[in-house]
Amino acid sequence: MAQKETFYLTTPIFYPNAKLHMGHAYTTTVSDVIVRYQRLMGKETYFLTGSDENTQKMVDAARKEGKEPLEFLDGIVSNFKKLFNELGISYDQFIRTTDQEKHWPGAQAIWKKLVEADDIYKKEYEGLYCVGHEAFITEKDLVDGKCPDHGTVPEHIKEENYFFKLSKYSDQIKNKIESGELKIIPETRKNEILAFISSGLEDVSFSRPRKADWPKGLGIPVPGDDSQVMYVWCDALSNYITALGYGRDDELYKKFWPGMHVIGKDILRFHAAIWPAMLLSAGLPLPQALLVHGFITSGGKKMSKTLGNVIDPEELLTEYGVDATRYYLARHISPFEDGDITREHFKEMYNANLANGLGNLASRIMQLAATNLSGPVKVEFTGYPVNYTKAFDAFDIQGAVDEVFRKIQALDQQITRDEPFKVIKTDPERGKELITVLVKELAAIDLLLEPFMPETSKKIIEAIMANKKPESLFPRKD
Ligand code: MSP
Repeated sequence: MAQKETFYLTTPIFYPNAKLHMGHAYTTTVSDVIVRYQRLMGKETYFLTGSDENTQKMVDAARKEGKEPLEFLDGIVSNFKKLFNELGISYDQFIRTTDQEKHWPGAQAIWKKLVEADDIYKKEYEGLYCVGHEAFITEKDLVDGKCPDHGTVPEHIKEENYFFKLSKYSDQIKNKIESGELKIIPETRKNEILAFISSGLEDVSFSRPRKADWPKGLGIPVPGDDSQVMYVWCDALSNYITALGYGRDDELYKKFWPGMHVIGKDILRFHAAIWPAMLLSAGLPLPQALLVHGFITSGGKKMSKTLGNVIDPEELLTEYGVDATRYYLARHISPFEDGDITREHFKEMYNANLANGLGNLASRIMQLAATNLSGPVKVEFTGYPVNYTKAFDAFDIQGAVDEVFRKIQALDQQITRDEPFKVIKTDPERGKELITVLVKELAAIDLLLEPFMPETSKKIIEAIMANKKPESLFPRKD
């Protein structure tokens, strides 16, 4: 049998210092939609997510709650998994960077490769470290002495670190991005990162002295120097291959690497500069693509407790359910630019497109079928519309979902035009024919729903197979 084509996709790994918010739900949902689409297209997929645990911000959050870091982590991670399950995220593995069995051997193996390539050196370093960014920042980034993104005063640090020769790779990375060997989507982000790289990359600090208050299971020891732990981004980026068994049992690695990463715009530099440089230094293949999405705001403003505009993904899941939440994220937030969500717009779109749109269409057709047909309609696979696959292949998720809703609207108009509910009374045979066609078309649409509304897709096809009206899919909200 011919081997199936493989597809590997990762989400960023999340900082477990607080619960996940709408932005995290977005990145993960969009990733899931893409993976489900690829699965639908017959590829053998592998989908990775996880948590980025060896961080100072997590230690600070744990201590604030009077908990030991490792115990604190377990609670947070189980909440992450709970949210992902509620969102219908079909991941294959959840990697944790404190996992000494799965993650550490690979992270240390990469480090050793960097040493072998003569790309690691020791240096006395002085700088400003922002715990929010988990990165050094410069004086000129500060506003009133504080990090503008996190509103905190950075730590002034003077210490001995290992450095990574990132500067050595500026030209190679630039060429790989320009040639499309490492694809950056969308084009605007590609140009942004090329401009950044063109100004020349600087070497980066790649380790920190082990902190006395960090427990032993936190922070990956630098091979050959236990007094230092790997810089968190070096440790975190390597998750994309350690999870596949790189450095321990590389069967999955051989099968699935290289793959693609979905990330937010704030972590583009780490993924388009540091990560490719690490891979080049280690002599490993670069990722195929980075899909870089924007940020979600509410009412045009960053969500914040002070503004009172925070929308929690749990809130939407409880009120509207998983598929309505996924629908909104897939159709009404751009995967290429910043997007916005408000409770009002969510409800409006829900009522117009799900309650009155898809939900109403499915129940109308299946009501007609259940009342007038003697048994289930045999449905056949009719293929995927080219506008749908084209949009998905370009990661234009909104475009793909729009195409499905165009079809929903057209089917609605077909009912209004053909009036099967009237024809069935005057010409039962013709009426049955019209209803059978409607059921077949509903089934064809239903298949297209799977990547972004898997639960609804299943409910509708089950109703078609049982020739009955589905339970109310999307009750109207007032
Ligand atoms: N731990 C790092 C990633 C390491 S990957 C090797 C990290 N974690 S994070 O938890 O802060 O963010 C995870 C993802 O959520 C990032 O891609 C980030 O861009 C995304 N988002 C955070 N806030 C967001 C919005 N408001 N909107 C959309 N996505 C945003 O960064």
